[in-house]
Amino acid sequence: MPNAYTLVDHTYDCVVVGAGGSGLRAAVGLVEAGLKVACITKVYPTRSHTVAAQGGINAALGNIKEDDWRYHMFDTVKGSDWLGDQDAIEYMTKNAPRAVYELEHYGVPFSRTEDGRIYQRAFGGQSIRYGEEQAYRTCAAADRTGHALLHTLFQQALKNRVEFYHEYFALDLLMDDEGACRGVVALCLEDGTIHRFRAHVTVLATGGYGRVYHSCTSAHTCTGDGNAMVLRAGLPLQDMEFVQFHPTGIYGVGVLITEGARGEGGYLTNSEGERFMERYAPKAKDLASRDVVSRAIMVEIMEGRGCGPNKDHVLLHLEHLPAELIHQRLPGIAETARIFAGVDITKEPIPVVPTCHYNMGGIPTNWRTEVVCPRDGDPDAVVPGLMAVGEAACTSVHGANRLGGNSLIDLVVFGRAAALHAAERIRPGMPHPELRRDAGEEAIARIERLRQARGSLTVGQVRTEMQKTMQHYANVFRNGPTLEEGCRRLAEVAKSLEDLRLEDRGLVWNTDLVEALELENLMLQAVATIHSALYRTESRGAHAREDYPERDDENWLVHTLVWVDPDFSVRFERRPVHLYTLTNEVEPFPPQKRVY
Ligand code: FUM
Repeated sequence: MPNAYTLVDHTYDCVVVGAGGSGLRAAVGLVEAGLKVACITKVYPTRSHTVAAQGGINAALGNIKEDDWRYHMFDTVKGSDWLGDQDAIEYMTKNAPRAVYELEHYGVPFSRTEDGRIYQRAFGGQSIRYGEEQAYRTCAAADRTGHALLHTLFQQALKNRVEFYHEYFALDLLMDDEGACRGVVALCLEDGTIHRFRAHVTVLATGGYGRVYHSCTSAHTCTGDGNAMVLRAGLPLQDMEFVQFHPTGIYGVGVLITEGARGEGGYLTNSEGERFMERYAPKAKDLASRDVVSRAIMVEIMEGRGCGPNKDHVLLHLEHLPAELIHQRLPGIAETARIFAGVDITKEPIPVVPTCHYNMGGIPTNWRTEVVCPRDGDPDAVVPGLMAVGEAACTSVHGANRLGGNSLIDLVVFGRAAALHAAERIRPGMPHPELRRDAGEEAIARIERLRQARGSLTVGQVRTEMQKTMQHYANVFRNGPTLEEGCRRLAEVAKSLEDLRLEDRGLVWNTDLVEALELENLMLQAVATIHSALYRTESRGAHAREDYPERDDENWLVHTLVWVDPDFSVRFERRPVHLYTLTNEVEPFPPQKRVY
């Protein structure tokens, strides 16, 4: 190890990487189980991206209209275009009401109905009685649900004395020679020391990688660091071709306008003033599933019915809604639209365009949140000591397309599941096996290489090239020739990482270095995404191939696993989708045509 590096060792029962909704919920549960827990987070917990979630969290409470978790399960399976694992979806939807009441008791300030129950709004792709009628299932704290949830969970974590390591950047998993995870190595941004955290269970809760795209609703910090750590450990990611484009990002800036706006009565129009969703989804209209609405908007634009001088966006109307409703239910987006689009939503429509919002793909896990990797003919073999939750994970409850409001419920249901299942496997204070002598050295070598980088390109230049390539070649609609060209161009951009230039600013608060580490992480995932999109020759959920416009259950009702090597070469395998349930309380839903 070069002299400049100070190594600090820690020993915990469990380590959680990430302090968004899923990481905090897991950490709270692990401490409640009597375990010694470290939570490592690259930003202060209340800055985690969960804070930006707007519209709400799904649970079949039935506070506005009748509901049942089985309806929620059906909608989620259908929303996933049958690629979701039905055992995991059953677990999530059945446990959702309990999880929301737990949040209420923790102190989340939910909006209320007249009679004091948790307010629930309509969201896209949700129904009662298996598609018969629109459901009202999305529990909301106005349009700042993620903010309320994250702050409440952080308070619970503080109350439970979770040991936080704020502003530590996780670099790599500490794997042993048998393929088990023994912890994680991280860089303390404040003083540049390197920390090895030994743990029996490592829970990755590192969020999505929305920043591979040029226009996205994700925070700058959403660089999928856990996903990249998994790839570097020689493990695969799953279903990376499935990227969700939210229909209503503000035109030009990509900031989110919640689907709750349409749930409260908002609607979209094209340049002819037509409510075009009626043509694409005659029943659900503006509340069809997100992938359907995003594709419809793109078709309108491509066929010349976009708005504005460049005919490149559509309009979201809320001006017909009572001002009181906007004030009560949508105060956040009124402010966002004013700041980012210069629009008073009580008077004018908001210009919007589909924007990268969520990654359905990620680290493959089972419903217990254990990371899986095929071994000796077992497609569901568990990687000992490693769990993943939240957007980092592909559990897979969202399959090919996530329903709005299912992200927050995923965080808390599976954050709790991680704690429950980790606590079943380990006892407080259990002894640790020795770490490999070279544990963490590769991570230090990477830092050293970047610190010595004296090429000609800044991190910002390479990142912008990567983002523009992804935006252009792996957008809402894809096809073979353009994906091939995208893969070729992205390979050139990845190669240009060798020509990075960093100033040597030491190790203390070296944000240039952190951005370079993040860029390397993003690049691995960009490569995984665009190659997976080329590999899957069908259209399913959010993956729309113009050259393969139909869903192909015969060949593609499978998860894709992708490995990306350090030289950016890729390798694929397929893994069966779980088309079965955990209990006999519900029958699995066999694949059907997906119409809204
Ligand atoms: O539209 C929204 O409020 C986003 C919700 C979600 O992605 O779940």
